[in-house]
Parts: sequence; C-alpha cells; structure tokens
Amino acid sequence: GKYRVVSTKSMPGTRWIRLLTDNDCRLEICTEKKTILSVDDILALIGDHCHGVIGQLTEDWGEVLFSALKRAGGTAFSNMAVGYNNVDVDAANRNGIAIGNTPGVLTETTAELAASLSVAAARRIVEADQFMRAGLYDGWLPHLFVGNLLKGQTVGVIGAGRIGSAYARMMIEGFKMNLIYYDLYQSTRLEKFVTAYGQFLKANGEQGVTWKRAGSMEEVLREADVISLHPVLDKTTYHLINPERLAMMKKEAVLVNASRGPVIDEAALVEHLKANPMFRVGLDVFEDEPYMKPGLAEMKNAVVVPHIASASKWTREGMATLAALNVLGKIKGYPVWGNPNAVEPFLDENATPPP
Ligand code: GLV
Ligand code: GLV
Repeated sequence: GKYRVVSTKSMPGTRWIRLLTDNDCRLEICTEKKTILSVDDILALIGDHCHGVIGQLTEDWGEVLFSALKRAGGTAFSNMAVGYNNVDVDAANRNGIAIGNTPGVLTETTAELAASLSVAAARRIVEADQFMRAGLYDGWLPHLFVGNLLKGQTVGVIGAGRIGSAYARMMIEGFKMNLIYYDLYQSTRLEKFVTAYGQFLKANGEQGVTWKRAGSMEEVLREADVISLHPVLDKTTYHLINPERLAMMKKEAVLVNASRGPVIDEAALVEHLKANPMFRVGLDVFEDEPYMKPGLAEMKNAVVVPHIASASKWTREGMATLAALNVLGKIKGYPVWGNPNAVEPFLDENATPPP
C-alpha cells in the first residue's frame, strides 16, 4: 500500500479493514494491551511516516498529536465516535488535518440504551436482579421492588438532536409518555410525531399524549418524571446538572445520561442520591472515566454501565466503516466538503460550500 494508516485500536468487523487495504493503504492496527493509550504511545504509533489515523474517544487528540501527524505527512484523522470532545478541532485545523466522526449509525443503538436505562432505573431491574442472585427472594410481596409506572408520565429530553429525538420517540411510542423537551432548535419533526401519535391513541379510545417545547432547561427538570440528557459536551454543558438543578427535580424522578460524563456534577449527584432514595439514575458515562466518584457504586438507586450505548454489532461495525471511509476519503482526495462525517468547520449542514 502507498499510504500508511494507523488504527489505535482493533475494531469490530472486517469491512473497514478491506476498505483500506483494497484502496492502496497499508493498515497497522495497534496491538498494545492497555486499554487507554497515552499521547506518547500514539506518538510512537504515528512515527515519522503516517497518512491517516483512526482514533478513539479515550485519547487526547490535541496540538502534540496533530502536529506530529502533520510532520509524518498525515492529513486525516477520524474519531470512532459521534462525540469529539476529545479532539481539539482548532489544533487539527492549524495543522491541516481533516477530522471525521461517525454519526448516524449509532443513533438508534444509543437511544435504545438510554431507553433501557430509563426502564431499568424506573423499575429497579438491577437491584431486583441482585436481590434474586443473593438468594433473598422468599416469596411475592405487595411492597417488593415497587417502582414507577411510565405510562402517562412525562419524559423530558435535554438536547433533541438525532439521539435525543430517537430516544423521545421510543419512550412516547413504547410507554405512551408525554414529552417536554429543551433544545436551542425547535424539533418540528418530533412535535409532529407526538401530535400524530396522540391523535392515533385517541382515535383508538385511549388517552392521548402531548408535547411541549420548554423555554428553559429548568422547566424540563421541574416537570419531567424521566429526564434524559443528550447534549454535546462543551464549555456550555459542563456540569449542566449541578446541585441547584438536582434540587429542582421531582423527588421520584429518573435521570439518565448516555451523552458525556462531565455534563453531570457527579459528586453532587452522589449526595443527591444519598439524600433522595426514591430518585434514580441510569448512567452510561462518568465524569472521570473509567472511575466513578466515591459512593456511587454503593448506591442502590443508580444503574451504572460502562459507556456501552453504541455497543451493538451492527453499529460498531458501521462506526468502524465510517471511520475508515473518513480517513480513506481524505487521503485519496475525496473533497472534505462532500464528506458528511467531516466535523467543523464542515459540520454545519446549512452552510454553503466553498466556491
Ligand atoms: C460514544 O460515546 C460516541 O460518541 O460515539
Ligand atoms: C402479580 O404477580 C399478580 O398476579 O398480580
């Protein structure tokens, strides 16, 4: 192969490998055993001759790595993730490295996990599972693991983009919940869906469902029974959920996070869980991954899973394929503008292409 492409991790499927090796690339997949590679590990991988890299959300892609990639003759980097808060886009631009991410293929998978966490937390599934395995079940009881009924309650979505909207549809259609959402942009499609579904339910003699676009995030926190967070992580969403906002939520609310850990002040969340035993959370992401803040692991009212929201076979193979396409496309001269997975400054779908 003419072009040396490095993948910092082995990824599911073989399509992404063939895509590169069938198109003039010599692929090198890092075999290092440790889970999270340091900047030095990646510098060694890049070496002095490298055209493109497929990297992971656990890696810190900033000036050091992008300038090294540039010196090695590289022009392309793709995160194998939709989120790219681990990537310094300005540093990449300064060094002439195009950046890609992998949206789309993980929308439904991630929404399904957020829905699963919502139900698991509302119905205390994990606590009940642990109780069974501990041999504590000695007969049916009226009080045993009583949780929340979702039907007719209100689901609150903060960040109604691709994933947030898919999650909302699942909770509305699956559990007949009402919707309240907060986003800078109006989600007309989601509103139309709820309206149509509400009419369908009523035509069948059932209670309808309603939607409301909240004027503030606080309105969602105060009114919703189940709240799922789907914002992008940046300076404006860091510790979006803080002690004051936790205090606004209903005492029996369910809070779900499958976006990025730092969106929640996790230490404050642990205190809130301790003080409010009926308040429940479902967490896929943590502020200081792979660690949990002290006390969280002991909380029975928390369901915790290790950042697996996009972990379905189809999606992970799709993410790997998109990441390979992003890198291959740039190396082979595919215009960055035409690449739907190129991130800023090419992310804005409404902007007009350069002349
Ligand atoms: C996973 O967290 C992703 O951003 O794809
Ligand atoms: C519960 O198992 C019931 O039959 O009500």
